[in-house]
Amino acid sequence: MAVTNKNLLIRQATEADAGPLIAILAEAFHEGSVADWLIPDPTERRTVYYRYFTDALHQGLEHGQVYTTSDLTAVAIWYPRLEPTPTDTRARLEALERIAGAYAPKFVLLEEMLDAFHPDDPHHYLAYLAVEPAQQNRGIGAALLADYHRRLDDLGLPAYLEATNMRNRRLYLRLGYTAGPTIVLPTGGPIIWRMWRGAPTSSGRTLFPVRSR
Ligand SMILES: CC(C)(COP(=O)(O)OP(=O)(O)OC[C@H]1O[C@@H](n2cnc3c(N)ncnc32)[C@H](O)[C@@H]1OP(=O)(O)O)[C@@H](O)C(=O)NCCC(=O)NCCS
Repeated sequence: MAVTNKNLLIRQATEADAGPLIAILAEAFHEGSVADWLIPDPTERRTVYYRYFTDALHQGLEHGQVYTTSDLTAVAIWYPRLEPTPTDTRARLEALERIAGAYAPKFVLLEEMLDAFHPDDPHHYLAYLAVEPAQQNRGIGAALLADYHRRLDDLGLPAYLEATNMRNRRLYLRLGYTAGPTIVLPTGGPIIWRMWRGAPTSSGRTLFPVRSR
């Protein structure tokens, strides 16, 4: 059961926060079935993950909305997706080659599969949520999400994310998300749960959109 953290101050992150937030992302995502599938060797994984999340954090600061806590113990990277957003495939392939080297093919496959199943309906996309491992299970992740959800509810917009295991899936279900069809990563890869938190309406929240690209 999560310990409620009542004194949490949440704010938008800036470039000055990049170092600690990249470390939180790389360390929090270091364990798990997706990480094992992407790069089985933990030492090589750590090196590549620091490069991958350096890119992810800077992309978020430049093109999305990045939130953190005043003590820099957590980070959430959101992207408003108010219309379908095409990926510059060539540029992304080059970036993943630079970041992941020999491991790039699985990163490309992962990103292409997530992209292919991304809903077209207007929403905000939670690309990454991470809490410093030593600070997990104290209500920080839930508080960071609840803060952003309040803004989305005021705007009448839904949220979309991909849960990477049953445990974080449980957290999202508690915060109003419903689970849609899953994605199974090929070559013995893990299951990814696609989740949708509908916009509030007078008859409840809007449902998981049925059509995907
Ligand atoms: C998932 C995560 C962001 C939750 O933040 P948190 O501050 O630890 O969570 P809270 O204290 O607000 O809520 C606790 C719930 O979070 C989930 N959770 C906590 N630690 C987790 C972990 N290591 N991995 C996955 N889920 C976790 C559980 O659902 C937990 O409740 P339960 O154990 O009673 O079911 C955080 O644990 C984390 O960074 N995990 C690793 C990275 C990750 O999985 N990110 C999400 C990708 S979709």
